[in-house]
Amino acid sequence: MARKRTKLGDRSARHDSAYRRAKQEGFAARAVYKLEELDRRFHLLAPRRRVLDLGCWPGSWMQYAAGRVGDEGLVVGLDLRPVELALPPWCEAFVADVDELDPQSLVDRFGPFDVVLSDMAPKTIGDATTDRLRSEALFERALDIATMVLRPGGHFAGKVFQGGGFGGLIERMRLTFSQSKPFHTKGTRAGSAEHYLVGQGRRAG
Ligand SMILES: C[S@@+](CC[C@H](N)C(=O)[O-])C[C@H]1O[C@@H](n2cnc3c(N)ncnc32)[C@H](O)[C@@H]1O
Repeated sequence: MARKRTKLGDRSARHDSAYRRAKQEGFAARAVYKLEELDRRFHLLAPRRRVLDLGCWPGSWMQYAAGRVGDEGLVVGLDLRPVELALPPWCEAFVADVDELDPQSLVDRFGPFDVVLSDMAPKTIGDATTDRLRSEALFERALDIATMVLRPGGHFAGKVFQGGGFGGLIERMRLTFSQSKPFHTKGTRAGSAEHYLVGQGRRAG
């Protein structure tokens, strides 16, 4: 019997229990529980932290981060699509393509960040090799941005669909952060190539 292959961005389980729970709890997407799990495991978010969220639409990570950093923190989100949620005043969401972004403009405007998150995923074409290459390129761009905007000691977590370049990304994470680890969230569907690479303590310089 042919094994069902889980595609990137597979929405077949859209109305699963996490989806329904997110709706009930007022979150914009089930992805919120992946960030919650990452945060519980790696202690990424805390009151007063300044967070950059790459690929923030529809906004559930911004909602969760806003609650964790509180009104003395900051959550800046960027996505190709506009976030239409009402968010607390210490959140700002912008329409932007990370490939065209000047990271220094973020630092000039907001100052250095304590945490960079990336849940970015490419538009998939259904060819696993190409989709994973695109995901790895987006992850690498997120890591470039994190390297430029994080204060020394800051943290990063980014999503990537594991392809041929995965080993190289892990090595870059190891060189950039004091501690780094690939993590497979419980919220990730069985058989998915999705990982989050988490870096704690950005090395200075
Ligand atoms: C899985 S969704 C993020 C969900 C979000 N974390 C949440 O919880 O609401 C991935 C997002 O990455 C965004 N994205 C993909 N490529 C991007 C790019 N080049 N620049 C900015 N955002 C991008 C997509 O538009 C999409 O909204």
